[in-house]
Amino acid sequence: MQRNQLRIILGLGTVLGALFLLFQAPLVKAARAIPPQAAPPFVPTSPTPSQTNSELLVWDAVMKELTVTAGQATADFSFCVTNVSDTLVVIDKLNPSCGCTTAKLPSEPWLIAPHTGGHIGITVNLAGKFGTIYKTVTVSSTNAPKTLTVKVNIPENPEMARTRNQEMAKADRQAVFRNDCARCHMEPTKGKEGKELYAAACGICHDAEHRATTVPNLHALNHSTDYNYWKVWITTGKAGSMMPGFAIENGGPLTEAQIASVAKYLSETVPTNPQTAQLK
Ligand code: HEC
Ligand code: HEC
Repeated sequence: MQRNQLRIILGLGTVLGALFLLFQAPLVKAARAIPPQAAPPFVPTSPTPSQTNSELLVWDAVMKELTVTAGQATADFSFCVTNVSDTLVVIDKLNPSCGCTTAKLPSEPWLIAPHTGGHIGITVNLAGKFGTIYKTVTVSSTNAPKTLTVKVNIPENPEMARTRNQEMAKADRQAVFRNDCARCHMEPTKGKEGKELYAAACGICHDAEHRATTVPNLHALNHSTDYNYWKVWITTGKAGSMMPGFAIENGGPLTEAQIASVAKYLSETVPTNPQTAQLK
C-alpha cells in the first residue's frame, strides 16, 4: 500500500519535472528578449533601409499636442532625445514643414555623445491661424531621418467668429437655424412663447449689448407698428438681409402659435406709433 503511494508520487514528480524542462527553455528565452530598461515606445514614421540604425536615438514623444488661448502668439514645444547607443550621433539639420515653424538645436550641428541627450525646441507662429493645425519637423542626422509632429488647438478669436457668422448669414439668412448656429439661435426657442420666446429668438440679435450696426433697435423704430407688422416680419424676415424668416414653411423653427405670441407681446410692449408716444 505505502509503496504504491510512493511510486505514484515519484511517477508524478518525474512527469512534472519533464514537463518543466520542456517548457522552461522558451520561457527563459522570452524573458531575456525583454530589454532590461523599457524604452519609450519607438514609432518609426516610414520604413527606410536605415531603420535598423534607428534605435540609436530615443525620443520622449514623436508627437506633442498643445491647446493655446485665443490670441496667443506662439506655441512652444520641447522634445527630449537620448542617444541610447555606444556611438556618437550627429544631428545636422532640422527641417520644419512651413515658414511659420522654427526648430532649434542646442548647436548646429549637434553632437550627441553616447548615452547623453538634450532638447529640441519647436515654435509655431500662430498669427492668423485658428482651429486644429499640425506641423512637422524632419530631423536629419547620422541616424535614420525622423519626423516630429506638433498639434496645436487654437480657439477662434471671438471677433473673427462674429465676422464669419455675419458673412454666413448674409449669404443665407436661414443659416442661423442650422448646424452649430442652431445651438444659440434655435434650440433656446423650443417650447417658449411670448416674452421668453422674444428674448430667445429675437433679443439675441436685437437686444445684444454690442449689436451690429445693421441690426435695428426694435424698441426705437421711427415708424408705426402693429400686430400684423410684427407677424409678417417674424414669418418672412427680409430677403437679402441677415433677418431670418422664422415660420416653419420658410425654414424657420417657430409654429404659427409661437409667432402669434411674439407678435402679441411686441404689439403690447412697443408703442404702435413713436410720434404719438413721444408727444404724450
Ligand atoms: C454661442 C452662441 C452663438 C452661436 C453658436 C452663434 N451665434 Fe450668432 N449671435 C450670438 C449672440 C450672443 C449674438 C448677439 C451679438 C453678440 O453679442 O455677438 C449673435 C448675433 C448674430 C447675428 C447678428 C449680427 C451681429 O453680429 O450682431 C447674426 C447675423 C448671427 N449671430 C449669425 C450666426 C450664424 C450664421 C451662426 C452660425 C454660423 C451663429 N450666429 C452662431 C450667439 C451665437
Ligand atoms: C440673426 C439676427 C436676427 C434675429 C435672430 C432676428 N432679427 Fe430681426 N433683424 C435683423 C436684421 C439684421 C435686421 C435688419 C434687416 C434690414 O437690413 O432691413 C432685422 C430687422 C427686423 C425688423 C425690421 C425693423 C425695421 O427696420 O422696420 C423687425 C420688425 C425685426 N427684425 C423683428 C424681429 C423679431 C420679432 C425677431 C424674433 C422673432 C427677430 N427680428 C430676430 C436680425 C435679426
